[in-house]
Amino acid sequence: MKDAKWDKLYAPEKRSLFAKFEEFVINAYFSDVFTKAILSVSNIKNGKIFEPGSGGGMASAKFARDGFDVTCMDLSENALQKTKSLFKHMNLQAKFTLGDLFHTPIKDDEFNLVFNQGVMEHFRLANLEAYKGVQEMLRVLKDNGTLVILVPAYFSPLFFIYKFLKIFNLVEKYWPYADQDFLHKHELFEMMQKAGCKDIVVRRLWSSLFFSIIGYCKKQ
Ligand SMILES: C[S@@+](CC[C@H](N)C(=O)[O-])C[C@H]1O[C@@H](n2cnc3c(N)ncnc32)[C@H](O)[C@@H]1O
Repeated sequence: MKDAKWDKLYAPEKRSLFAKFEEFVINAYFSDVFTKAILSVSNIKNGKIFEPGSGGGMASAKFARDGFDVTCMDLSENALQKTKSLFKHMNLQAKFTLGDLFHTPIKDDEFNLVFNQGVMEHFRLANLEAYKGVQEMLRVLKDNGTLVILVPAYFSPLFFIYKFLKIFNLVEKYWPYADQDFLHKHELFEMMQKAGCKDIVVRRLWSSLFFSIIGYCKKQ
């Protein structure tokens, strides 16, 4: 499933002011919050980590810096290129795969931790069944490995900014994502449940300043 909109979004010459700002904020604050939350719920100290939908690769870079064996995958060549540049700049190693989360080109039971952030909310409005992506994430996870999904929350600060822009018809001009969605906790829970996850926990991630919800489970 090639999707040109992501390549456009990550094309260096076309990056909007919002996209640059978002990247700065994620780099400066959120990637640290996300990686700490992911490590705390998965409780791993080493092993193999997979991030499908890695975008700029900021979170994965932190894991690689901490000694994990990291694989970044993205649908967009431009996004993957950005991740590669970041890793090169930070003198870090990883595997980089161009691929679709719905048809992941990776064999079963490979990773101790599979996670993504800011990805699974982009499918509902594009009429794609997000749970099928979660099934793939589960498939490549080892038994007892941890699956972690972070998405922007309904009624988060970002949600209100989005609604404000929508009311004034400014979404197209200023918002980088045409298919942006915000999820209630029960929606992320149902997505994971439908994919076959067991003993799922979904909660607000307060350290993300109310922006995100985190869902996680162990592969059984
Ligand atoms: C909003 S960005 C988030 C990037 C990154 N996780 C972050 O937190 O900055 C969503 C990313 O998911 C990627 N993506 C979207 N659909 C995908 C798919 N089906 N398979 C793999 N990656 C996908 C996009 O190319 C983009 O890099």
